Amino acid sequence: MTNKDDKDKKPDTNVRFQCSNTRTSIDLEYLNALEKYFGHDNESTIEKLQNFPKYVPEKNMISFLARNEIFRKILDVHGAVVECGVLFGGGLMSWAHFSSIYEPINLTRKIIGFDTFEGFTGAHEKDSVGDLGEKGDFASHAYEDLQECAKIFDMLRFKNHVQKIELVKGDFLKTSKQYLEDNPHLVIALLFLDFDVYEPTKAALELFFDRIPKGGIVAFDHLYYKGTAGETVATYETLGLSNYKIERFYWDPLISYIVKT
Ligand SMILES: C[S@@+](CC[C@H](N)C(=O)[O-])C[C@H]1O[C@@H](n2cnc3c(N)ncnc32)[C@H](O)[C@@H]1O
Repeated sequence: MTNKDDKDKKPDTNVRFQCSNTRTSIDLEYLNALEKYFGHDNESTIEKLQNFPKYVPEKNMISFLARNEIFRKILDVHGAVVECGVLFGGGLMSWAHFSSIYEPINLTRKIIGFDTFEGFTGAHEKDSVGDLGEKGDFASHAYEDLQECAKIFDMLRFKNHVQKIELVKGDFLKTSKQYLEDNPHLVIALLFLDFDVYEPTKAALELFFDRIPKGGIVAFDHLYYKGTAGETVATYETLGLSNYKIERFYWDPLISYIVKT
């Protein structure tokens, strides 16, 4: 995914975003410029957050809007939102906000996030390409941070006596079966697959697809993306690629979804 010219370009040692196999040098320049710009002292932190469109990278703005569209499609479908792969929690908290805004009284809409919070557990041969998926990549260590985030979020949330956000920490291959044993009542309205790698993606489809009622959604962050080939292979092996219409938003190159029929 690197431009032909990028290889010759020397990294700027004064900036934070340098090494990436999935970003071009222009992407990195853009991120570093944004990071530097965000550091200015003309606004307080809260003022910056209140003016978030000034600072949010385009990719994340697009992804936020796409998630909003997907969430609106499950408003009349019963069940939880399950985010497979939480990282720092931007996606997870998007679902939480949408639920709180659109359906404040829906006490059964849990937002459940699965992650090791220590990154990938390792690559499978079906992850093939090898520029993503090394053990420990994407370690966010954000479990405690997200508990605090949920606590602050709950301060203004209607019906905040009922927990909305649930985090399941650990390797999905181990935690998911236990989760189902502890929660045999689980119904899933939206399964959002963003593990990026083959094994947990396949396990999520095998374990959770039957928990989705008709009209529910399986969404993919990186289907048909070379760097995360395992996500597509796992989907191909479980659901097939021709059994459902794989839908998308014309303005988002990455997120796609199927509606269970
Ligand atoms: C691309 S990130 C998720 C991004 C996130 N959905 C967002 O919106 O920012 C992939 C995440 O999957 C997690 N992950 C990968 N393999 C896992 C496994 N076997 N069990 C649990 N989490 C896993 C990683 O720790 C990483 O945080």
